[in-house]
Amino acid sequence: MGARKEVINRDSSEYDDVLLVDSRQTAPGAISGEYAEEAKLRPRALADFTGQRDLVEHLSIVIEAARKRGGCADHILFAGPPGLGKTSLAGIVAAEMGVGMRITSGPALTRAGDLAAILTDMQEGDVLFIDEIHRMVVATGEILYPAMEDFKIDIVIGKGPAAKSIRLDIPRFTLVGATTRMGMLAGPLRDRFGFVGRLDLYPVEDLAEIVLRSAGILEIEINADAALEIAKRSRGTPRIANRLLRRVRDFVEVRSDGIITPASAIAGLDTFGVDELGLDKVDRSILDVLCVRFDGNPVGLTTLAQSVGEDPDTIEDAYEPYLLQIGLMQRTPRGRIASARAFAHLRIEHPVMGRFDVSR
Ligand SMILES: Nc1ncnc2c1ncn2[C@@H]1O[C@H](COP(=O)(O)OP(=O)(O)OP(=O)(O)O)[C@@H](O)[C@H]1O
Ligand SMILES: [Mg+2]
Repeated sequence: MGARKEVINRDSSEYDDVLLVDSRQTAPGAISGEYAEEAKLRPRALADFTGQRDLVEHLSIVIEAARKRGGCADHILFAGPPGLGKTSLAGIVAAEMGVGMRITSGPALTRAGDLAAILTDMQEGDVLFIDEIHRMVVATGEILYPAMEDFKIDIVIGKGPAAKSIRLDIPRFTLVGATTRMGMLAGPLRDRFGFVGRLDLYPVEDLAEIVLRSAGILEIEINADAALEIAKRSRGTPRIANRLLRRVRDFVEVRSDGIITPASAIAGLDTFGVDELGLDKVDRSILDVLCVRFDGNPVGLTTLAQSVGEDPDTIEDAYEPYLLQIGLMQRTPRGRIASARAFAHLRIEHPVMGRFDVSR
């Protein structure tokens, strides 16, 4: 990644794949096979990044312009549901700019001093990636805002009446923020980003392309039709597409000749409990709560989360976007409700409309 070595403020194992180069040198064997594979699949250049065409085009203009001016790119925010490529894009920004990247996250920056230490230690032009930036504490924001705007930070030295505030210059940098919750971002922070890229769930054709690319990298034999079957059940999410590809590979290696055909892809996905819409156990239990337990009546988020044994944030970030997109669930002012399609999908009778034709 760039000419300089990636420097990482590590706070969670989620970054294992980003850390691959460093971790492999320092702790051989620390990364499991799946993590290593996941790392290979992460797109490293804008040209490897499939889909999100408008976003990619805009981003390439921002990067190209900054490169031509010989400066650093404006601060960038990526927003969207989990697994759509926010972290990958942050790495791509640094790689395309040919600069180093620092990685941290909102929850890891518990004290303003932590951020000040990172900022003063960066090199001119570096990318600072803050994941889950909406979970940053207010005190950290107070350091971050002037840093983003004027590339200066104020630090207080000493305590009580003798305390002095001094202003330090820091190197110019590009902040890349990622959030699954645009709505939870403080207004002043949102306004300081020069470019906001919203990632949408991927259409099936793009996911099929991602599956083919990943299969190529992992040397898995598959054809376009089989890739399409996996894509159809990937809930619009590249991370899920890659995961399902690996599970189907396991399936064909154990049960057949190791080659993925449309039929073996479907058989494998059925075996792992992923249905034809890509719904897994949690999705189905969400629908079950809405349709059966609450008889199609509106259900509040907290009640819904408790009923399926998940965290409300997880329901809202990871499950709802897809259920809303495919029209199985609706959000109303009184709560979440299942649509007639959801009843049809579960093959149960709608309390008002009766039995619904699945093919409609
Ligand atoms: N456009 C894409 N083309 C190819 N692969 C992709 C693309 N987007 C994501 N991926 C794959 O999906 C995986 C997950 O992407 P990434 O970690 O960037 O998502 P994220 O948005 O940061 O998720 P989270 O919100 O959970 O942190 C990557 O490892 C990569 O292999
Ligand atoms: Mg991420």
